[in-house]
This record gives sequence, structure tokens and C-alpha cells, in this order.
Amino acid sequence: MQRISLVKQVHEWLEAQLREGDIVIDATLGNGFDALFLANKISPSGWLYGFDIQAEAIAASRLKLMPYPHVRLVHASHADMAAHIPFVWQGKVRACLFNLGYLPGGNKQVITQTASTLSALTAASQLLATDGLISIMAYPGHSGGDIETECVAQWCQTMTRQGFQLNTLISDATNAAAPRLFMLCKAQVPNNLL
Ligand SMILES: C[S@@+](CC[C@H](N)C(=O)[O-])C[C@H]1O[C@@H](n2cnc3c(N)ncnc32)[C@H](O)[C@@H]1O
Repeated sequence: MQRISLVKQVHEWLEAQLREGDIVIDATLGNGFDALFLANKISPSGWLYGFDIQAEAIAASRLKLMPYPHVRLVHASHADMAAHIPFVWQGKVRACLFNLGYLPGGNKQVITQTASTLSALTAASQLLATDGLISIMAYPGHSGGDIETECVAQWCQTMTRQGFQLNTLISDATNAAAPRLFMLCKAQVPNNLL
């Protein structure tokens, strides 16, 4: 059984979709690896907004993103993202990334919570441009992660009834605890990228 690297899948998908000048959001900055990838794609004229509830995640991300001109890192819950995205960018966001769970190398007790994750997903869907993308990496293998993953899966299904296209990948289909990737798009995604 071949295991799929879901992080690689997200980056390959976005690599093909994002352009210099785009407005993007990293909803869970963590150590800043996804944010760095996004900043590389959209700089120098694009804007990156990043959120995390942990100061150490903001600090680690800030260090990586120092060379990039249009970056705003917000020490707040992603559930409040709409309040931090300027009005002119609302409805123009090209992509919003969620990598749920805990900060690798950090406190494993501080994890994303189902209620705030669902609020943030709804906020992100409203901030998106018509061709915008949401990716969600979910981890059913840790305590609470199974319920969060199930709720995210249900939320994604409801979005398909509102004009979103959904693709779901599982890193190991034989393992119920394996990470899952949900990719949502308001427009048609070319089949060769999914
Ligand atoms: C798996 S890590 C993200 C990995 C990151 N994208 C990277 O490239 O390193 C999950 C992060 O979500 C953060 N987090 C948890 N709850 C959050 C919330 N309500 N709002 C924003 N970030 C949150 C955690 O502090 C942690 O840093």
C-alpha cells in the first residue's frame, strides 16, 4: 500500500493555482512552513495573512517570513479572521490553508478545537474569491481529532451543496487514524491536479 504525502499534495495543488499578487491566508501558522510556501508563490505584490493562537508559532513564522514585504501575522484565533482581513480583500482571497492539530515540537495539549475550526471554515468560505480554494489537513489519530475530522468532513459536504467542489484524500485508506486532506474549490479544478 503506497502512502501519500498529503502536505506535498496540498503544495502541488496550490503551486498550480496560485499566482504572484494573490491574497492568501494561513489559518494555522505553526512553524511557518506552509506560510513560507505561500509567501514564495504570491510575493512581492501579494498579501499573506497568518493566524495562530500560540506566540511561539507567530515568532517562528515571523522569522521565516522576514524577507517578504506583504505579510501580516495575527496572534488570534482563526475563528476571528474576518475581523483582521481588510474590507477591500474580503471576497478576493484566493486560498486559505488549515493544517489542524497541534504545533509540531510544541505543547500537544494546545490543539485546534472543533467549534472554532468550523467557525473559521465558514469565515474563510465567505472571504474567498469565486475561484478560491480551501485546504484542510485533519488528523483523526489524536484525542479530539477524530470528532473534529468527522465534523470537518460533514461541513465540506454541506459546502458541495453551495457550489463548492470537494476532493478528499486519505494518506492510508487502510488506517482509520490516518491524516485526511479536504480540498474545496468554488470552481472547476483540473482533474490532473487532484
Ligand atoms: C499542525 S500545526 C500547523 C503547521 C503549520 N501550517 C506549518 O507549516 O508548520 C497547527 C497549529 O494550529 C494552531 N492553532 C490551534 N488552534 C488555533 C486557532 N483557534 N486559531 C489559529 N491557530 C490555531 C496551533 O497553535 C498550531 O500551531
